Amino acid sequence: MIASASGPEEPFALGVCYYPEQWPAERWPAYAQQMRALGLTYVRIAEFAWSLIEPEPGRYDWAWLDAAIDLLAAAGLRVVLCTPTAAPPAWLVQAHPEILPWDRAGRPRTFGSRRHYDPASPVYRAHSRRITTALATRYGTHPAVAGWQTDNEFGDHDTARSYSPAARDAFRLWLAERYETVADLNAAWGTVFWSQQYSDFDQIDLPNLSVAEPNPAHALDFYRFSSDMLARFHDEQIAILRRLSPGRWITHNFMRLQHDFDHYQVAHNLDFAAWDSYPTGAVEYSSLSTSDKRRFARTGEPDLIGFNHDLYYGVGGGRPFWVMEQQAGQINWAPSNALPAAGAVALWTAQAWAHGANVVSYFRWRAATVAQEALHSGLLRHDETLDRGGEEVAALDTSAWDTAPLQREFALLHDYACLWAYDEQPHSAAASYWEQVMLFYRALRSLGVDVAVRHADSDLSGYRLIVAPALTIVDEARATHLARYAPSAHIVFGPRAGSRTPSGNIHPSGQPGPLADLLGCRLRNFDGLPPWLSVEVDAYTVTTWAESYQLAGGTALHTYSSGPLSGQPAVVRHGGVTTIGAWCAELVRDLLASELQQLGIPTLDLPMGVRVSRRGQSTLWQNFTPELVTLPDGTTLAPVSYRLDSTRS
Ligand code: GAL
Repeated sequence: MIASASGPEEPFALGVCYYPEQWPAERWPAYAQQMRALGLTYVRIAEFAWSLIEPEPGRYDWAWLDAAIDLLAAAGLRVVLCTPTAAPPAWLVQAHPEILPWDRAGRPRTFGSRRHYDPASPVYRAHSRRITTALATRYGTHPAVAGWQTDNEFGDHDTARSYSPAARDAFRLWLAERYETVADLNAAWGTVFWSQQYSDFDQIDLPNLSVAEPNPAHALDFYRFSSDMLARFHDEQIAILRRLSPGRWITHNFMRLQHDFDHYQVAHNLDFAAWDSYPTGAVEYSSLSTSDKRRFARTGEPDLIGFNHDLYYGVGGGRPFWVMEQQAGQINWAPSNALPAAGAVALWTAQAWAHGANVVSYFRWRAATVAQEALHSGLLRHDETLDRGGEEVAALDTSAWDTAPLQREFALLHDYACLWAYDEQPHSAAASYWEQVMLFYRALRSLGVDVAVRHADSDLSGYRLIVAPALTIVDEARATHLARYAPSAHIVFGPRAGSRTPSGNIHPSGQPGPLADLLGCRLRNFDGLPPWLSVEVDAYTVTTWAESYQLAGGTALHTYSSGPLSGQPAVVRHGGVTTIGAWCAELVRDLLASELQQLGIPTLDLPMGVRVSRRGQSTLWQNFTPELVTLPDGTTLAPVSYRLDSTRS
């Protein structure tokens, strides 16, 4: 780990994603000057440039990249150079079709776009090391190279899990290492069910083509394996870059709510995390109601964005992050692609900073005139004139945005294996791990508090309130870890807490397994609610999921008042620990408000779309709605705008 160039000593900065190879070289000098004039500092390049860097096996063409980097440097810009492994060249695929990923239906995916590789392929891994070494040897100590981005958006286009023969062979070896004996694997997977017992690791297939749904423990291990393959692939690149590019930082641009690999694991050797923010696309693909989608179609919805900012602050080890790609106009990949509202690009940039970003880098410089993304915007239009987003960037004043690390008092716990276990058997159509997490996150944000998203096993000292919205997997070690914080913090658990063992099975003692002493209750019944069915807890309407408890030391704060769970506890309190079994936004919000009040923390009542975030000595008020809003202090905030209040003298 090195001191990060985006660390607190560096001022907040802006950047851009740029593809010099897509434009005539005569335009490059003017572009570099224009970037500088717009106030940009960083330029990310080359993540899809492998076939230009190495047009034939072993023949490298550095001339164009040398010239592009030198021009950027001469204009005073700092380069973020990428390993180009997200887009292996056609000649490599032709020579080694075994590097291709296979889809869930058991077919090889083909050349002609990007991300067509399987990280479990030993052949691809060797080529990844080779091209990374070549690039880092050439530019590792170039004075203009500030740092590195590895690859591009791991998992994009459903590529985190490959069902190839290479993956199958590697999975068998991985299982043999993990379990040592088939008997142990059989016990962990519960293969006694449906006659699934194995007598040889080589009998085990990938879990994509089973007749009925695969054994969930088999699936969970395959997800862990796939994540391990990506982490190993990634760590190999990082080791090469560390050796050949001393003093430069390394990051990766993760994606919004991507969940097919363990981001903490894949990020653990990075200096900080980065992610790519496309707020209007996030709304189109969200589960928001049609009226909320209409309301936020041109601005994005702040919690869908803010959650990812908070997540990547945590994924990067609790360090300021970058938005490596920030939407700067309309996108091209959603079902429709609404033009962002005036002011949205500036609002997104300010929000990112307030959630802990030290750099926001826009996607992309000039709108492409060719290929898949021809309808995607850039800071410049196709015809090279400055587009709406570019004008907003030119007008941004970021001088008061200091890059202090965040101070947060409230933690929201997160873990990818918990997500995999949850989503493998959601048991209710509208239930999913992310939806349940967002129920709690939204509640906290509407109460006006800032939230740190932390891995469930991380050091949680200093947090006053710890919220574990969907902590399905809990073993003895995790239960002991969490119990350590009970004397000093309030802890709130959501439904299904401790419902699973690390293998994804139910604890023989039932839910919540080893958490029972901490929670002071045990699961009694659960109720998966289809969209047309609800139950009540007093005046609260519960949808999607309801679980009831039998008390074991705790007291019932709320009981179900209708449905088959009527009269049974829905919320249990045990010392400073509260367990909420009912899926209801209002109930969750009221219970969290009461926790904060007990801790003496003032709360607000912010409507959807209006949010407040704090960084350093500053408070940022944000209005993502199309209306003028009145803030708690009686002042107003125009539609799609922000206000920065500073407590500094
Ligand atoms: C990102 C990707 C970029 C570009 C962009 C378009 O997911 O990293 O290369 O495709 O989307 O919005």
